[in-house]
Amino acid sequence: KGGRRGERSVPGTDFTPVAPNTADAVTVPEGYDHEVVIRWGDPVLPGASRFDFHNQTAEAQSRQFGYNNDFVGLVAQDSSGWRYLMTVNHEYTTESHMFPAGTYDSANPTEEQVRIGWAAHGLSVVQVVREPRGGLRVVPSRYSRRITLNTEFEVRGPAAGSRYLTTSADPSGRSVFGTMNNCAGGVTPWGTILSGEENVNQYFANADAVTDPVEAERLRRYGFAAGESTRKWERFDKRWDIAKEPNEPNRFGWVVEIDPNDPDSTPIKHTALGRFKHEGANVKITKDGRVAVYSGDDERFEYIYKFVSNGRYKPGRSAHARRHNSRLLDDGTLYVAKFTGDSPAEEIDGSGTLPSDGEFDGTGEWIPLASGDVSHVPGMTAEEVYVFTREAADKVGATKMDRPEDIEPNPVNGRVYAALTNNSDRGMAGKGAADEANPRNGNRNGHVLEWEEKRGDAASTTFTWRLLLVCGDPAEADTYFGGFDKSQVSPISCPDNVTFDRYGNLWISTDGNALGSNDGLFSVPVDGSHRGQVKQFLTVPIGAEACGPVVTDDVVLVAVQHPGENGTPENPESHWPDGGTSPARPSIVAVWKKGKWGRSGRIGS
Ligand code: FEO
Ligand code: CA
Ligand code: CA
Ligand code: CA
Repeated sequence: KGGRRGERSVPGTDFTPVAPNTADAVTVPEGYDHEVVIRWGDPVLPGASRFDFHNQTAEAQSRQFGYNNDFVGLVAQDSSGWRYLMTVNHEYTTESHMFPAGTYDSANPTEEQVRIGWAAHGLSVVQVVREPRGGLRVVPSRYSRRITLNTEFEVRGPAAGSRYLTTSADPSGRSVFGTMNNCAGGVTPWGTILSGEENVNQYFANADAVTDPVEAERLRRYGFAAGESTRKWERFDKRWDIAKEPNEPNRFGWVVEIDPNDPDSTPIKHTALGRFKHEGANVKITKDGRVAVYSGDDERFEYIYKFVSNGRYKPGRSAHARRHNSRLLDDGTLYVAKFTGDSPAEEIDGSGTLPSDGEFDGTGEWIPLASGDVSHVPGMTAEEVYVFTREAADKVGATKMDRPEDIEPNPVNGRVYAALTNNSDRGMAGKGAADEANPRNGNRNGHVLEWEEKRGDAASTTFTWRLLLVCGDPAEADTYFGGFDKSQVSPISCPDNVTFDRYGNLWISTDGNALGSNDGLFSVPVDGSHRGQVKQFLTVPIGAEACGPVVTDDVVLVAVQHPGENGTPENPESHWPDGGTSPARPSIVAVWKKGKWGRSGRIGS
């Protein structure tokens, strides 16, 4: 079953692709329908006030759905797929779009506006139920939760209590208020959520106050800048001022774990997974039952990492299993990836032309950085490796990639897939040259890489790899669609988040389409004769990025982040989703196939 129509599509991807467009709308394939599940300002906690764009308060926002939804994680609460806990990241705030025209002065925000920003960050947890006709509906439940920049986190793992993590408010270095810039993430096999703290540098002021050359270089390496911050938070809480709290920046840039099953649980920062601009984190169980976590550092010329635990995974989602498995992430080995091409270097000329063996491919190794308290990096302590992980990866000669975004293991074929979103600086003077794993200079459209760990074991320290896609307009010679007929694929640009359907087809959402159309969500088979057949499933409204994606048998979820981002309050480019003259509101959208007798059908069949 699954609707194979001739040889046109494989199961899970049988739909008519939508055409690229620049509409202020979500566009879905013919025969499909969609609806907003929850939007910025909608109630999450009991007693939340109704969203009032003209009179927003920090108190209201702390009980409402936050801004700029990114990762979406569904944890099933029954075996039939009717009830889920939905956890959503709120990556960042765009204050100039969050207040009525003329009321937000970026040079002089009010304290209340700043506090609204703190409350609009973090995550939301809500319970959702499936609607028989299709889609998901938020229901009030005891699981409803908001995590904000005021929520207390426990720091765990080998850098907990480190001298690099202590502040005047927390001399223990083990307790941090809040999480921020939570970009992508993953659902663990034990039913919790991992979430990556990504571009945390932008929230801090006055990095130039640090004059010690080693410390100053570390701040620079992570992008912390001189002078005031964009949001001016440092005026209202000194922890955002590096001149006053030089270690506060080190308390962000981690993978955090949230347990949506227990609304009273203290969320965790896992230092064993290293500190960098984590896009997300996804788990694969090793052959001997340990836990591997993959994570990319999303910046130009940054790295791909893997953590492998020492302890073994306990199957199940009981409170006991969740506690046990979460602890596994505190003790293990952190690795960084090195990719080696198998084609002669002169055949990789930066043009994107396939080498003579017909593939961008090769072998790779995982270079250990630290195991517990033991550093494998000359000149760095283990503590330094965890807190300044980029510096450690530099020292061991890992491969600098074209912005490693979401990385996820394929539950069907066992291989691991990484979106490399773009890197316009590749090949520029003084920057990294093209290599077989990052084969295009001035890479505007990105690519998708897959690897297979030796013996299919996530604990292996060697692997083989190849590129699945070199993205762009298929009419252009510098693109590659897994060997599939390029006249039969959708254009795709800037792959960002990835997920899989039950058949193992890869689904990719995009951020920053460099081809002039809106971003969207795409499916692509990764095995068999349809490998590389990219089909566009939906487009998001103008200015928006497509995030989150979740693909179940019955529903596709996509997080529409920053709709109308390129407009201004005086001159908005989007009024999605509410229409009229309303402000654009980041929202989660559910898509389903219209079925018979008022029941939804199967996605892609
Ligand atoms: Fe927040 Fe790397 O995208
Ligand atoms: Ca992202
Ligand atoms: Ca090759
Ligand atoms: Ca992105």
